[in-house]
Amino acid sequence: MPQARIAIDRTMLVAPINRRIFGSFVEHLGRCVYDGIYEPGHTTANEDGFRLDVVDLVKELGSSTIRYPGGNFVSGYRWEDGVGPKDERPVRRDLAWHSLETNQVGLDEFARWCKLTGSELMMAVNLGTRGIENALDLLEYANHPSGTALSDQRIANGTSAPHDIRMWCLGNEMDGPWQTGYLSADDYGKLAARTAQALKAADKNLELVVCGSSGSTMPTFGDWERTVLEHSYEHVDYISAHAYYQERNGDLGSYLASSLDMQYFIDTVVSTADHVKNKLQSKKTIKISFDEWNIWYLDEHQASEEVNDEWRIAPRQLEDTYSVADAVVLGNLLITLLKNHDRVGSASLAQLVNVIAPIMTEPGGASWRQTTFFPFSVTSRLARGEVLRPRIDVGRYETAVYGAAPLVDSVATFDEESGRAAVFLVNRSQTESLQVTIDVAELGASVVDEAVSLHDSDAYAKNTLADQTRVGLQALAGAVLTDGVLTVTLPPVSWSAIALK
Ligand code: AHR
Repeated sequence: MPQARIAIDRTMLVAPINRRIFGSFVEHLGRCVYDGIYEPGHTTANEDGFRLDVVDLVKELGSSTIRYPGGNFVSGYRWEDGVGPKDERPVRRDLAWHSLETNQVGLDEFARWCKLTGSELMMAVNLGTRGIENALDLLEYANHPSGTALSDQRIANGTSAPHDIRMWCLGNEMDGPWQTGYLSADDYGKLAARTAQALKAADKNLELVVCGSSGSTMPTFGDWERTVLEHSYEHVDYISAHAYYQERNGDLGSYLASSLDMQYFIDTVVSTADHVKNKLQSKKTIKISFDEWNIWYLDEHQASEEVNDEWRIAPRQLEDTYSVADAVVLGNLLITLLKNHDRVGSASLAQLVNVIAPIMTEPGGASWRQTTFFPFSVTSRLARGEVLRPRIDVGRYETAVYGAAPLVDSVATFDEESGRAAVFLVNRSQTESLQVTIDVAELGASVVDEAVSLHDSDAYAKNTLADQTRVGLQALAGAVLTDGVLTVTLPPVSWSAIALK
């Protein structure tokens, strides 16, 4: 059996954990909002029409910040359509997803839903069809306490306390030709800088996210970040990154190494942001908001009948069903985000319910966990204190896309106060179990508190409406901690977590 050796010590500190690294994303897209989180006729629905079975799953998932209301949707959105009496709200066309938007859920309802789930609302403003004035209006409506036209309108609509939204995205994927109102880097950089300056004149403590590239394969990747930041650096706090992965051409080996692309993406954005920092002689350091990341079978979506000329309300779109292999890749992407937490300050799994989501629902029926639910929920639950980057000594395997890729990836967390530690690992081998010896002596733990793994003899096994619990977590047999050395055997194509105390 191949072997790996890992050493974890506290000098390998990355950063204290900010819960915002476990964020997610709710877009008005397909059945994410309507027939997803919101279904007034459902037996579990509360007075706002929100499904409480879904609320329970969101809490179990452990997502923190929730980005809203898009995504591509936001670039044509009129936020004021979604506030006030529901029977007076207009139905509009959503050009991004070629659907009809009923506006039955808007800012005030969504903010209440966030409270139910214990999450923080992260808002995106429309810089596609709109601009500075509208962003300021939305901020006034959302955050101003009272005594102005728009804050009083919010109060009259039934929300007396301000929503106090801290994180704001300055548009969405403005580099993408698919985006309503997309712009050149120069034009967007200027608009983002002016919008950010105005928003911060209203509230200097806002945290603003300027749009980075929609993917590392965009032809403008790198140059976009440089130009946009040269315009906006002093006004913003984060630059966004978006990345979706999928298996292509039956090449599971390359797919399992997808996190190498995420690492390249992060490294490139960090170097570019720091280059601009030096050029401008700025004192501040920009962080990444990785506010869209996930597995998405995008090629299949684009070739599917989902893309059509009909105008429907909440059509089934982007409802990918995830396999064990998808969950292993997702677990590995989350490991990568944590390993870079010194520069990736915030992240959002895109998305949360029904649309490329860890949680699925049926109208009038059940809600269930996809395979990808498990690595996210366990990592969010066990990762506490600070992130430590392990030293990993392991063999490699050849991939068509990334060349030689390490067989194992891992990250650890340690909470000094409780003395608890956690180690997260993936085995990318498709055929062999791997024996891993982990030196944790420095952490002072003596007991394995929990050891779980996601794997299956069929790497393509999935949870479906017909079989909602086909795949779940399994106990990771044989995890032993003796004299500061933890020994585990990782099954092929697996994601595992071990909690120590
Ligand atoms: O998450 C789905 C879509 O992916 C979002 O709307 C968009 O921002 C990205 O292209």
